[in-house]
Amino acid sequence: MPTHSADEQHLHRALELARQGIGLASPNPYVGAVITDSGGNVVGTGAYTYAGVKHAEILALEAAGTIARGGTLYINLEPHAHQGRTPPCTDALIAAGIRRVVASMPDPNPKVSGRGFEKLRAAGVHVEVGRLEEQARRLNEGFARYIRHGVPLVTLKAAMTLDGKIAPPPANQDAASQGDASPAGDGFSGNWITSEIARAHVHELRHQHDALLVGVGTILSDNPLLTDRSGRPRRRPLLRVILDSRLRLPVESRLVQSVATEGNNDVLVFFSSAGRKDDEQKRAQLEQLGIQVEAVPASEPDGRTDLPSVLRHLGQLEITSAMIEGGAAVNWAALSANVVDKVFLYYAPKILAGTGSIPFAAGTGFRHISQAAQVKNIHLHRFGEDFAVEGYLRDPYGE
Ligand SMILES: NC(=O)c1ccc[n+]([C@@H]2O[C@H](COP(=O)([O-])OP(=O)(O)OC[C@H]3O[C@@H](n4cnc5c(N)ncnc54)[C@H](OP(=O)(O)O)[C@@H]3O)[C@@H](O)[C@H]2O)c1
Repeated sequence: MPTHSADEQHLHRALELARQGIGLASPNPYVGAVITDSGGNVVGTGAYTYAGVKHAEILALEAAGTIARGGTLYINLEPHAHQGRTPPCTDALIAAGIRRVVASMPDPNPKVSGRGFEKLRAAGVHVEVGRLEEQARRLNEGFARYIRHGVPLVTLKAAMTLDGKIAPPPANQDAASQGDASPAGDGFSGNWITSEIARAHVHELRHQHDALLVGVGTILSDNPLLTDRSGRPRRRPLLRVILDSRLRLPVESRLVQSVATEGNNDVLVFFSSAGRKDDEQKRAQLEQLGIQVEAVPASEPDGRTDLPSVLRHLGQLEITSAMIEGGAAVNWAALSANVVDKVFLYYAPKILAGTGSIPFAAGTGFRHISQAAQVKNIHLHRFGEDFAVEGYLRDPYGE
């Protein structure tokens, strides 16, 4: 019998393999698998990528061949027992003579959760569930939110000073103040809030998401490109989503021009003033340049794009995770509409002060401490002198 630490070591490896699917596997989950023979030696591994079709455990079985008989499967997610794009993996595992399955967590899809384990147990396979569960759950939290509710997991990200300012007063914004916003083009480095190392991490975060979302105010003030510059492969382009109730998005913005010149179909603008003659003309103009434009209902009382409708639409496009990198207006709109699942807030050791500086979130704010959005399950990250707080407003696996 393998020792506890040997089991964990193999599961860590399975999780590492699963991470190879980041940028590739969505809208399906990240899954990695390791098979050991009856002596505990690794005889096969597999990682799921959507385009590769085959599931991680099948790839591991194929690599192991007949030596898999009597062996153990280590996997971060429950093997499936139903016919999907591929036949049930449980059948293949049973047929190959796998004796023991060590899995981190059940499938978060309520329609199938637990069935894979049941089928394996019914065939006499010894099944253990729950080791490294926390890591496994975090890895597939976007998939969980999407498969359980049909909407993407929403992460609110911002870069701010220690006193919670995301930009200096508008008149002082001679150039970009954050993110990748640089009217002068890439390479601008004079006016960022956070350091290069923190900004490089933002690109890792972008890589982990299916969509980015900002308000048109950020486009107007910063003229950003909003691209994934992690350098890692993606199966689908990062969808760049703009909330723009009255279609103010400038045709000459870098974002629109990047679509017009590169022909990518990766910018989606939501507006809420469908039917107004001027807006229909602008819509036609943007669409002609290759921008997707969708009308959504107007929210009460300001007539702006209704965020829950936007997220449902993104869910229909199989977007499992969306990162809001907006300005103060959109940050507050998202918080007040209760659509934020988690935050990733970067802080630089700077103090901007002043009532004119732009706060993290505008609007009326929550009126009482008892109503404040409560961030739980906090993880702290250091990036040189900067740091980030990652935490949850809602359990992605909850109701
Ligand atoms: N440090 C950071 O992390 C960071 C990140 C981004 C931006 N910024 C800074 O933030 C500032 C821009 O702030 P901002 O508030 O203008 O930008 P924003 O929140 O990105 O955009 C606001 C605009 O989005 C439109 N919008 C559409 N639907 C909306 C909805 N449901 N709720 C709210 N707004 C909606 C509104 O214009 P319509 O009413 O016309 O639709 C609104 O004026 C800039 O100074 C920029 O540098 C900082």
